[in-house]
Amino acid sequence: MFDLGDAELASNILGVGDGPASFNVEMHERGRRVISVDPIYVFSGDQIRARVEATHDQLVTACREHHDRFVWNHIRTPEEMGRVRLAAMERFLADYDAGRRDGRYLPAKLPELPFADGQFDLALCSHLLFLYSDHLSLSLHLAGITEMARVAREVRIFPLLMLGNTPSPHVGPVCEELRRRGYAVELRRVPYEFQKGGNEMMVVRRAR
Ligand SMILES: C[S@@+](CC[C@H](N)C(=O)[O-])C[C@H]1O[C@@H](n2cnc3c(N)ncnc32)[C@H](O)[C@@H]1O
Repeated sequence: MFDLGDAELASNILGVGDGPASFNVEMHERGRRVISVDPIYVFSGDQIRARVEATHDQLVTACREHHDRFVWNHIRTPEEMGRVRLAAMERFLADYDAGRRDGRYLPAKLPELPFADGQFDLALCSHLLFLYSDHLSLSLHLAGITEMARVAREVRIFPLLMLGNTPSPHVGPVCEELRRRGYAVELRRVPYEFQKGGNEMMVVRRAR
């Protein structure tokens, strides 16, 4: 999703809106430290599992109904998508309590992050901004991205499509306003594509 190479993986990474995903634990198992923030980290592991499992059948059914909206290369079927999602959650949950004690899972949410200026090399945000443009306003996007750029040297956001694969109406205005404020903004193609046409990320660097 973020086209991460060795240099990026070795850097100091913040994950924003990481939810019940396994990136943090996978990096931890490789001896790397990622800090993840998400408002759901106020909940217990059992509460998170119950919420994720409750949406399982609905998600698999929606993927079946809209089969042509996805690229079925890496993941081959809607059922496999469901299994991959639950397996990622189980990896996350097995690490969750230890990770919370270790300060790797922190309850926080955009547009405010509890970190110092420039604390991270890279802030990653997947499947939150742009994807939910119907619910998250342009001003929330701008405040959230500038906040991530305050705490990290570089910000990467993926994907730039909404649910249903429509391009987010916020992408153009966000690029324009951030550039007007002196940020460097780039839309860059990435190798990953699950939503058809969802193979671009936004890369933002703050003004010097
Ligand atoms: C669809 S999930 C994506 C999880 C993960 N990034 C991934 O790609 O699998 C969206 C996540 O964003 C979190 N979220 C919602 N509002 C947020 C906010 N204002 N700031 C940070 N995270 C938020 C939700 O709790 C949820 O875990």
